[in-house]
Amino acid sequence: MNEDVLILAIESSCDETAAAVVKNGREVLSNVISSQIALHTLYGGVVPEIASRKHIEKINQVIEQALADADVTLEDITAIGVTYGPGLVGALLVGVAEAKAIAYAAKKPLVGVHHIEGHVSANFIEHPDLEPPFICLIVSGGHTHLVVVKDYGEFQIIGRTRDDAAGEAFDKVARAVGLGYPGGPKVDKAAQEGNKHAVEFPRAKVEGAPYDFSFSGLKSAVLNYINHARMTGQEICVPDLVASFQNAVVESLVSRTIMAAKEYGYDKVAIAGGVASNSALRAEMKKACKKAHLNFYHPSPIYCTDNAAMIGVAAYYEYQKGARSGWDLNAVPNLKLGER
Ligand code: KG4
Ligand code: ZN
Repeated sequence: MNEDVLILAIESSCDETAAAVVKNGREVLSNVISSQIALHTLYGGVVPEIASRKHIEKINQVIEQALADADVTLEDITAIGVTYGPGLVGALLVGVAEAKAIAYAAKKPLVGVHHIEGHVSANFIEHPDLEPPFICLIVSGGHTHLVVVKDYGEFQIIGRTRDDAAGEAFDKVARAVGLGYPGGPKVDKAAQEGNKHAVEFPRAKVEGAPYDFSFSGLKSAVLNYINHARMTGQEICVPDLVASFQNAVVESLVSRTIMAAKEYGYDKVAIAGGVASNSALRAEMKKACKKAHLNFYHPSPIYCTDNAAMIGVAAYYEYQKGARSGWDLNAVPNLKLGER
């Protein structure tokens, strides 16, 4: 008999407390996200201590809501999936402890999930036809990786950032021009009113590593531009400035991704992570893929930024491969991609 596999997934690695129920790896029955953005906005960024405390307050009600929305009870659940790294250690610990307690009490298997494997897996939710292998550009607040997804949960890293992650660059530039936190969505919105060719910022290349990224030079160039304008009394046109910055980031992300797909011989390209919800990146990648005759996949914005549905998808494929975590599962803040 072929029984449905229902995963209850929990995600608490940064500033979203999230739980979801995912059926057979691809069907999202519920996806509950309690965002702490409003709280951290006061401080201009995520405050780890506040994030942990808020996760503790919210996690039970978020899980109850996810079960209720999916119209299932804990007995119906096959296994519990939880993000155990990378992320903020105190924040991760809340989800891990909760998942262990539920799994132990309900006598369900526990599957620890790599947060970035979750981001990549978000692509499977709305693309039933998408299967590995494919090229994936992972761009989040802490990661910028170009990988070959060889199989479910199996990655070959072919490029990575040498300094700032793409999301980090968005956040820092947003802060510098006074757009505040969270920077990415604010830059995205402001850039829509701007001229992306207003300022020609440098596109960094890493010597001998054609698929690696570097954004710190670009960030410094933006900061220098701002300082120079302030010192000479010139007014800064924020939409033009952020549109030009965003264009430089998008160009370097798109060009390397397309080059990798061609060079490594894959005809499928996916994007993942919070920055994958950026409207310019989505539009430019779509255009470039079409030109290069590559199939382009991207999650809806709600599945790009942190959520538990993506963790449920990754947990399903790990569960099917036989992965089970013990009661000693711990938060691993600097967990590397491809490690378990
Ligand atoms: O994947 P994510 O939600 O959390 C991490 O795992 O880091 O990514 C968060 C990052 C932040 O840096 C945020 O500014 C960026 O994604 N981001 C965006 C957009 N939405 C979120 N960056 C550019 N454009 C957006 N629309
Ligand atoms: Zn994330």
